[in-house]
Amino acid sequence: MPQHVQGVIAPGRNEPVRVETIVIPDPGPGEAVVKIQACGVCHTDLHYKQGAINDEFPFLLGHEAAGIVESVGEGVTDVVPGDFVILNWRAVCGTCRACLRGRPWYCFATHNAKQKMTLLDGTELSPALGIGAFAEKTLVAAGQCTKVDPAVAPEVAGLLGCGVMAGIGAAINTGNVGRGDTVAVIGCGGVGDAAVVGARLAGAAKIIAVDIDDRKLEKAREMGATHTVNSRTADAVEAIRELTGGFGADVVIEAVGRPETYEQAFYARDLAGTVVLVGVPSPEMKLELPLLDVFGRGGSLKSSWYGDCLPSRDFPMLIDLHQQGRIDLAAFVTETIGLGDVEKAFARMHEGDVLRSVVVL
Ligand code: APR
Ligand code: ZN
Ligand code: ZN
Repeated sequence: MPQHVQGVIAPGRNEPVRVETIVIPDPGPGEAVVKIQACGVCHTDLHYKQGAINDEFPFLLGHEAAGIVESVGEGVTDVVPGDFVILNWRAVCGTCRACLRGRPWYCFATHNAKQKMTLLDGTELSPALGIGAFAEKTLVAAGQCTKVDPAVAPEVAGLLGCGVMAGIGAAINTGNVGRGDTVAVIGCGGVGDAAVVGARLAGAAKIIAVDIDDRKLEKAREMGATHTVNSRTADAVEAIRELTGGFGADVVIEAVGRPETYEQAFYARDLAGTVVLVGVPSPEMKLELPLLDVFGRGGSLKSSWYGDCLPSRDFPMLIDLHQQGRIDLAAFVTETIGLGDVEKAFARMHEGDVLRSVVVL
């Protein structure tokens, strides 16, 4: 029997979001219905609401979530009802060239649930990143569910589904930060702070946090940054060079998504250093670099897609580390809110003192 639950929809471009009754079909083959316990409010949800991603309104927002599998469709064996899971954006096929080469985050045949969730009048909903978890329940492809230890608070576990994984993964997977490395992180929001946590986890000797907001820098220090640079008052590249004996950092992680910070990241790396781009630029942005600087400085310029993560490998590992007290994922939760507070949480994103507002159900 299809179920009626409450969910947060974005009805049209820049219109306020609102809680509506939505219809969740029974899971079909390869699908699962998940009872959502917590879902973080991410910038991407705001971008959906603004029509910046596509115009397939109405959207069912929310995609950084953890919950309990309620029911599964035919052929689903990896998860069973009662499992505590973190949701990821897309199930991967496991057999395409990208999957076979160990890069499933670039899978050519990712999929979400085939069936659609709808409004009461039958209008089909577009779930944000194929998830739609600002809702009491949601329908996903079973492969989007990764089982983890249920002892972890859902509002903490859910964060691994997007921003925190993107940041930690940028450091440990894409940047391959090693013991003793010097690391600079430009932009210390949720993603940048997670990169700081990842760098510390990987054994970096120096972690230099760069931001234009002192409050963000203070928080980055709590997360493990050893040095901070306010790039409103100091030249970020020069400051990073000074702090690294004149060389530049072994790994520079850009977590803003702007041409000027991409450029800073490029010049702040040591010879043969690695630049990791995790901030998402908007489509019109361009970066011009003298080719001789690209050639002459060596090293690599990498982009990090979803922290280049393998959910089934990385989610349980990070949950273990959190439970052992070796990383503190709870430090990313600024506030817990209700389903009706998502619009307010969007407004608070720009206030500077919020890493993550998390909807708890
Ligand atoms: N130089 C340094 N820091 C900056 C600059 C700048 N020119 N402009 C903004 N910042 C800082 C902000 O002060 C803030 O602390 O960058 C941080 C951005 O953080 P959030 O807005 O909280 O964004 P976050 O969720 O961390 O995501 C960062 O990564 O995954 C992507 O789409 C995401 O592009 C976004 C980026
Ligand atoms: Zn997100
Ligand atoms: Zn694949």
